[in-house]
Order: sequence, then structure tokens, then C-alpha cells
Amino acid sequence: MDTNRITDIGTKGVRAFSEADSEAALRDVEIRFLGRKSELTGMLRGLRDLSPEEKRTVGPLVQGVRSSLAEAFATARDRVAREGRDWEAERIDVTVPGADDPLGHLHPITSMTGEISDIFLRLGFEIAEGPELETEFYNFDALNVPADHPARDMQDTFWIESDGLDARYLLRTHTSPVQVRYMETHTPPFRIVAPGRVFRNESTDATHEHTFHQFESLVVGETGDVTVGHFKHLAETFFAEFFGHKVGVRLRPSYFPFVEPGFEFDISCVFCDGKGCPSCKGIGWIEVGGAGMVEQKVFEAAGYPRGKYQGFAWGFGLERLAMMKHRIPDARLFMSGDLRFIRQF
Ligand code: DAH
Repeated sequence: MDTNRITDIGTKGVRAFSEADSEAALRDVEIRFLGRKSELTGMLRGLRDLSPEEKRTVGPLVQGVRSSLAEAFATARDRVAREGRDWEAERIDVTVPGADDPLGHLHPITSMTGEISDIFLRLGFEIAEGPELETEFYNFDALNVPADHPARDMQDTFWIESDGLDARYLLRTHTSPVQVRYMETHTPPFRIVAPGRVFRNESTDATHEHTFHQFESLVVGETGDVTVGHFKHLAETFFAEFFGHKVGVRLRPSYFPFVEPGFEFDISCVFCDGKGCPSCKGIGWIEVGGAGMVEQKVFEAAGYPRGKYQGFAWGFGLERLAMMKHRIPDARLFMSGDLRFIRQF
């Protein structure tokens, strides 16, 4: 076997592999130098016909050339694979900002309900709840609202078709009915707060919405234990917590059928700090809610004996407070579903 020819195949093959510049060219070179019908493979096959001495010298030479070519082939395959790629197209700009994955969040009414409930919880109150679809009894009768009171009119109340039902149903116009529902199953002393959605059959404007939210609070103890003074202190403590600074609280005599004496209460204007500005119409105070000492008739409606207990109830609207705290100009924004509004919270 011609040893020169063997080394010549090796030299030519290594060069051919190094010059192959495409997968097709590489395959041709592979067939030509390493294929089953290639000269080198023929030589490897012919080794068995050689004499033992020849085998000893030629065998390692042919094997050596064969492994050099195999190595050259592997190197060329990697090179062709690398060169065949469009590196520009595959370039990754690691400085491009990541895609934003928008997360939802709580509606401001929901988050503020939580915020206000938390203040009451810290003050030792329990959260109570009642149904939005309420009966005339809990919404009006049990609260000593007279049968001919204008609030029962078609003007203010969304009445529900109740023919054939056990009671006359309505959408509750306030959260006060929760007082009676709670007292029916609990005995004083207690402190509760009832957040909830309420409904009024009225025309809407920047300060009125037909659907809004209230907080009703009730504190009851044995007669003599709970006074108007306790209410005023509680209101001052609550509003200072809510606004993050001290605000004045003022009671004005007023009438609500379920309390006696009854009050409307104001807080000092948070926009001008009580000095007088357009928001408070120059008065320095803004009306926030109603309050009073629970009328004994309400205790009786809940099944308590007359005269045994004494307490106060107060209620205020969530939207009104939120508008003051966050300078929101229109009460209708809360229920508008306008994401430009909601995303600000
Ligand atoms: N329920 C009354 C309303 O919606 C507000 C209110 C007034 C609640 C006096 C009270 C209260 O607890 O004592 O207008």
C-alpha cells in the first residue's frame, strides 16, 4: 500500500474540509473522504489482506489519517453551522425594557372601605353587615320612621315588586337597618360598624349619586354608660386617624326618627382648615353625617326592654369623605367605571 498516497489523502482531505463553506459542500467532502466508497475506507478494508509486518506499519498510518479527517470534519461542521446563522437577526438587545404585565387593583371604594374598617377595628369595634335588599320593617318601621314620612315616597326609595312575598322589599336607603338586625341577636355592651352600599331614587349631580356607600356605627351599654361625650370623642379620634391630622368636630341639633336627641355633625373644612373657602362656602365647616342617642323605640323593636340600655348611633357617607381626602370633584366618578379615574388610586 502506497504510504505517500495515504498521507496525500490526509493532506487533501483536511484542506477540503477546511474549505467547505456550506452544508452541501461539507456533505460532498465527507462522502469523498470518509464515505463507504472512499479511497481511505477501501484502504482500511484492505488492511486485513496485508502481511503482518505491513499491517504493523501501514495500519497505524491509515488509522491516524482516518481520525485526523474525522476531526477535521467535526471542526468544519461546527464552523459551517456557526457561519450559516444570521447573527444580526438573532441579536438580542438586553437593554430593551421588559413587557409590562398590567396588574389590576382594588376599586377605591373597596380599598377605602378597608381603610376605614381598619380604623374602627383598631378602636375595638366589630364589623356588622346587613342585606342590600331590605324589608320595609328594618329600613323604616323598626327605626321609628313614620308611615307617612316623605323618605318612604317613590321619590327616595327604590321599591321592589313584592306581591305575594312575606314582606314589602326595597333597596335599603341607608345602613341604619343593620343596627336593628345586629341588636336582635346580640346583647350590650358592644361597639359595631356596618359598611355598606345604599340606594336612593333621586336625580344625580356632582354631589349626589343614586348608589353610594355609608358607614353606620352603633355603641350601646347599660343606661348611663354611653353618652354624647363619648360620641364626640370617638368622632374626633376617627377623623384624625382618617385624615392623618386633627380636625374639629361640631354637633348641630337635628332630627332623625331613630335618635333622641339627634344631631347633624360637621368637621372643620379640610381645605382651608376652618378659615372659610369656596369648598365650605365660607363657613369653615362641612357637614359629614348624622348621629344621636338611640331612640328607645329602636331598642324595643330589637327586643330590648325599655330604659335598660343607652347608646349612640352615627352614620356618614364614604364618597363624601373620600372626595374631601383625595380632592375628587364629582361623586358620580366612583360608579362611572372610568378607568382613568380608577387607575389614580
Ligand atoms: N341613616 C341616616 C341617613 O342615611 C344617617 C344617620 C343619621 C345615621 C343619624 C345615624 C344617625 O346612625 O344617628 O341619612
